[in-house]
Amino acid sequence: METMKTIAKRKSTRSFLSEKQIAKADLDVILAAGSAAPVGMGDYASLHLTVIQNPALLDKLNKAVQTAFKIDRNVLYGAPTFVLVSSKEAKAPNIQYANVACVMENMLLAATDIGIDGVYIWSAAAAFANNPDLRKEFGIPDGFAPISGAALGYATQNNPAEKELKVTLAVNYIK
Ligand SMILES: Cc1cc2nc3c(=O)[nH]c(=O)nc-3n(C[C@H](O)[C@H](O)[C@H](O)COP(=O)(O)O)c2cc1C
Repeated sequence: METMKTIAKRKSTRSFLSEKQIAKADLDVILAAGSAAPVGMGDYASLHLTVIQNPALLDKLNKAVQTAFKIDRNVLYGAPTFVLVSSKEAKAPNIQYANVACVMENMLLAATDIGIDGVYIWSAAAAFANNPDLRKEFGIPDGFAPISGAALGYATQNNPAEKELKVTLAVNYIK
């Protein structure tokens, strides 16, 4: 798929087939795309990925987020795979958020390209913020903090057709 077509086709999925796992080869494509993202000062060692596919741990994570946000909907939308992106304290103020976003978007675009649905999840990171036990249980290395995660799988319904690409953000042109 061409890049612009993939960008047009990417769309957040909020209802996954929990029983339909993605293939390891596809997961590898997605993780490799994340690994190829631009990262400030090339500081790739400041980033860490955690792949969660164990149903009991996905459930535990969902419940931890529900508790943190006092909500009862499934915040992972039943996705069978969740890739948590963590970062060390950044070398420049807040640059870790930009780095993680680049990794996330690369992964979500790669997923779209190979026919896997996904959604960017911010809320999951909050569950880890003041919870060292949870960080330990999910194998987050010392010194790293989860910042975002990608829920991945297959949507319960076909995604709508690709959107038309046009400039919709506010822009001011200086000529
Ligand atoms: C930084 C960031 C955080 C997000 N967090 C969540 C989230 O926690 N839960 C969720 O359902 N969607 C989340 N989203 C998805 C956005 O709501 C979604 O991308 C946006 O509404 C545009 O829709 P689209 O992805 O279908 O084009 C997040 C997106 C970004 C970029």
